Amino acid sequence: AVKRIREELVAGGTLSLGTLADTLALDDFTEVYRLADQVNEEVNHGVVRIRAILEFSNVCRRQCRYCGLNCENKKLERYQMGEDEMVQTTLAAYRAGYQTIVLQSGEDPYYDKEMIGRVIREIKARCGISITLSLGERTKEEYAYWKECGADRYLLKHETSDPEIYAALHPCGTLENRIQCLRWIKELGYETGSGFMIGLPGQTCDTIAGDILLLRELSCDMAGIGPFIAHPDTALKDQPNGSTELTKRAVALSRILMPHLHLPATTALGVLSQGEKSDVFSCGADVVMRKVTPGAYRRLYEIYPSGLGLDDDIVKGRMELEDAIRQLGKQPL
Ligand code: 5AD
Repeated sequence: AVKRIREELVAGGTLSLGTLADTLALDDFTEVYRLADQVNEEVNHGVVRIRAILEFSNVCRRQCRYCGLNCENKKLERYQMGEDEMVQTTLAAYRAGYQTIVLQSGEDPYYDKEMIGRVIREIKARCGISITLSLGERTKEEYAYWKECGADRYLLKHETSDPEIYAALHPCGTLENRIQCLRWIKELGYETGSGFMIGLPGQTCDTIAGDILLLRELSCDMAGIGPFIAHPDTALKDQPNGSTELTKRAVALSRILMPHLHLPATTALGVLSQGEKSDVFSCGADVVMRKVTPGAYRRLYEIYPSGLGLDDDIVKGRMELEDAIRQLGKQPL
């Protein structure tokens, strides 16, 4: 398998859908993991980048079938953080050592162009932290404005590259528009993050191969690849969770195909298995995110059931994570 991968990469600089799909389905993936780890080591030298994530609103206008925040879930109590609270939390994260803050929310129209712009400007006036926005699909004009205000990166997962699967899961939007947004984001000069889920109903190895190739086509700088986790208050509540093994395989192949791509060990992977989440750093991952969302809101940002701790001491959280990374023989940054 590794021979076929190497030959294709050398000959054409890319991998075919068939090779990716066949490799994903191998009985024994050991050699491929080893190659992914080698590439990761060459590019990232054992560094694991830590990002803080602030989930500032769980209000969402969309109806994504898999997500606990979808607007049809009436059981969920909703919250919206104020501008000052967002800035203060970000400053606390900066003081704790974080160099990037991910500002994430549901698709919440309450936060308009100016409001998000003010938050970005205020943060940038007061500290040197990098800002990643993750607010869903907005207009090109809004994306452009926030870039001018000082935002550095934008995270918008494509979720699945199969238009039929996408349509079945999203009564609220099209794959076409999602990809259009990603192209605008890239064109506007953001570092662009996409990603997808493993284990969606109807997905095959071909679909996942297509997902990996779409990351490449979009020239993504980052990709979050995580297993689907069934949420009891959604339409997909009876679906099995995604495979952690297949998740790691997709991360490994993404590393091999796109050596410089940032690949987080996703929270969702850690929810299904802390061991697998640690393990993914030895098969391609180079990034990890840590919540800095204030404790009162944390349990309400339930995209999927997490069962993870709700400890909200930002300084302690950062130190624990750094220790865990060093335990793996890696260097936190
Ligand atoms: N299981 C796993 N991941 C999910 N996401 C949303 N719902 C689920 C779920 N049930 C992911 C999507 C989204 C990100 C914020 O969380 O990929 O982009």
